[in-house]
Amino acid sequence: MKILITRKIPKSGIELLLKKGYELEINQQDRILSKNEIIDGLKEKDGLISLLTDNINKEVINSEPKLKMIANYAVGYNNIDINAATQKKIPVSNTPDVLTDTTAEMAWALLFSVSRRIVEGDNFTRKGKYKGWGPMLMLGQDISNKTLGIVGTGRIGSAFGLKSKGFKMNVLYFDEKINETLEKELNAKKVEKSELIKQSDFISIHLPLNKSTFHFIGTNELKNMKNNAILINTSRGPIIDEIALTKALKDKWIFGAGLDVYENEPNINPKLLNLNNVVIQPHSASATFQTRSNMAIIAAKNMIEGLTGKIPTNCVNKNIYK
Ligand code: GLV
Ligand code: GLV
Repeated sequence: MKILITRKIPKSGIELLLKKGYELEINQQDRILSKNEIIDGLKEKDGLISLLTDNINKEVINSEPKLKMIANYAVGYNNIDINAATQKKIPVSNTPDVLTDTTAEMAWALLFSVSRRIVEGDNFTRKGKYKGWGPMLMLGQDISNKTLGIVGTGRIGSAFGLKSKGFKMNVLYFDEKINETLEKELNAKKVEKSELIKQSDFISIHLPLNKSTFHFIGTNELKNMKNNAILINTSRGPIIDEIALTKALKDKWIFGAGLDVYENEPNINPKLLNLNNVVIQPHSASATFQTRSNMAIIAAKNMIEGLTGKIPTNCVNKNIYK
């Protein structure tokens, strides 16, 4: 079996595939491949390990008749045309669970950074601007006893919520389903979107990107937030209207934002980059040595299951087996 891996991933996963005797073609350049390069690389391949930066559309999926398994090296899989894969009965897998805590930790890191102006304070101090303790210097926002609004309480949103325990927060959440764990552990309250927007001091987004979540947060929502509100996004950029957010931050409709993802990655609205009340990260919420290694293992295991005729453990289009 031959597999294309569109970028170097940790060796923990590579070793599993090699042990199986698979022939691997790994992009050796540290950059994102173009669509045509992926199509070229896919020739005669049985499997594809793709990244969230690869647009695996219908044309790519249909380009190689031998293709029988796609393992995405990410929990999100909005970069893959699942319908096109399903039509060809190609299973697609993702890497859930192993990155849940890691991603939730990044959401908290951003929440703390924005609340206490950590990046701004660090820059200020390094530049020699710190001339002594000041009663009004670098004032931020308290976290304990405030209202935390979680949008989307799947694996990551739930883990994020549970980590608030030490901060005695009033937890609200928005989701289609009741989250018994959050209700039991935190006394969390399931509310309508508008209520969460109006009442929360912190709003953290944990939704998958799809047609119904595109621009879930736009001008209206931002205008209805508290002006001390802090918005965190570690999910997918297009869930927030980035132009509206830039205006909201510039005109101080809200206190700040912490972002790991952007609407048109890797491009970021240049106006956003000039603002002090936003902390920006390079889509690195799952980026720890341990988690990236575990993601490689999960992707490899799913690939092996798919290529040996088993239903991949983390198959996202299981309906192909019906
Ligand atoms: C990262 O964004 C992922 O989906 O794994
Ligand atoms: C992501 O995988 C989630 O369920 O939050």
